[in-house]
Amino acid sequence: MKEKLDAMLVAANEAMAAAVDEAALQDIRVSYLGKKGQLTSIMKGMGGLSAEERPIVGAVANRVKDQVFETFEARLKKLKAELMTSRLEHEKIDVTLPGRRNDSGTKHPVTLVTEELIDIFSALGFCVAEGPEVEQDFYNFEALNIPKDHPARDMQDTFYINDEVVLRTHTSPVQIRSMLKQPPPLRIIAPGTVYRRDSDITHSPMFHQIEGFMVDENITFGDLKGVLTTFIHECFGKKVGVRFRPSFFPFTEPSAEVDIQCVICGGKGCRVCGNSGWLEILGSGMIDPEVFKSVEYDSDCYSGFAFGMGLERIAMLKYGVNDLRLFFENDVRFLRQF
Ligand code: FA5
Ligand code: MG
Repeated sequence: MKEKLDAMLVAANEAMAAAVDEAALQDIRVSYLGKKGQLTSIMKGMGGLSAEERPIVGAVANRVKDQVFETFEARLKKLKAELMTSRLEHEKIDVTLPGRRNDSGTKHPVTLVTEELIDIFSALGFCVAEGPEVEQDFYNFEALNIPKDHPARDMQDTFYINDEVVLRTHTSPVQIRSMLKQPPPLRIIAPGTVYRRDSDITHSPMFHQIEGFMVDENITFGDLKGVLTTFIHECFGKKVGVRFRPSFFPFTEPSAEVDIQCVICGGKGCRVCGNSGWLEILGSGMIDPEVFKSVEYDSDCYSGFAFGMGLERIAMLKYGVNDLRLFFENDVRFLRQF
């Protein structure tokens, strides 16, 4: 019996030394020391021994049991330490590595230009107003002295929603909405998206304008020229060539279009400026008394000027972009440059 117990101890020690993880080790412990374990059943069977044998075998069995348990505990401690070491090895973090950055993107050039223009005109005392992109015929045309049968409706190829509703073709309807809301004096700019059936290197079916207008007593064409020249000098620098060219708009009289020297070719002529050396950036004029009539302003007391400019055109000239359509393709290689 003693030999059997000693052999069991050797076998148990070998098995535990070979256990690769805690679960395997626990299984071995149970197979010797558990309720139905090999050692437990020997101890249970000791009742059948003689009175002389029983204390001797009992002492050996107890020693073996203690030793198996000791080996078990030592091996468990070692396995836990190994597990910790390997986790520390694998889960190690290099705190000196640079962090991952979020890609934050950049502002669209048209947004940059809008913000810059708002800054320039704010400094001149203008406030920002907005109007809807889906606009009633009344605000987009009728109140701006463009009645239904007026030939000027051909000037702007319009996206009609129905007979009375259009995608606004310019930001000028904001003039009417603002003037109906408040009496003079007013100084307002209105940036926004507009739509026309137009598409080539300087025209896009969706583009952006900024409308500006000022109404008060004694406003003259001199004020218009002063404000617009100041704006152009702030935006493009004092050296750029500027010209006021007589023009026509049903809602202004007299009217002028303003060109600046093409910065792409320096005024020599290129495909962007249609070889003229100049690029039209805005339309302007003194607000027509007919417009004042539709908003019930007294044109004997008040006068005003208005202008509307294309923001993509300004962005093209400011950043030297030679095709307006690039602003709408949203190619990140293009957009990242600004
Ligand atoms: C108008 O839209 C008038 N409402 C401007 C105005 C306002 C005149 C107040 C007088 C008083 P026009 O159609 O010329 O005018 O357009 C104004 C500017 O928008 C042009 O000078 C040009 O810079 C820009 N523009 C016009 N069509 C396009 C287009 N399809 N794509 C990009 N820019 C355009
Ligand atoms: Mg024009």
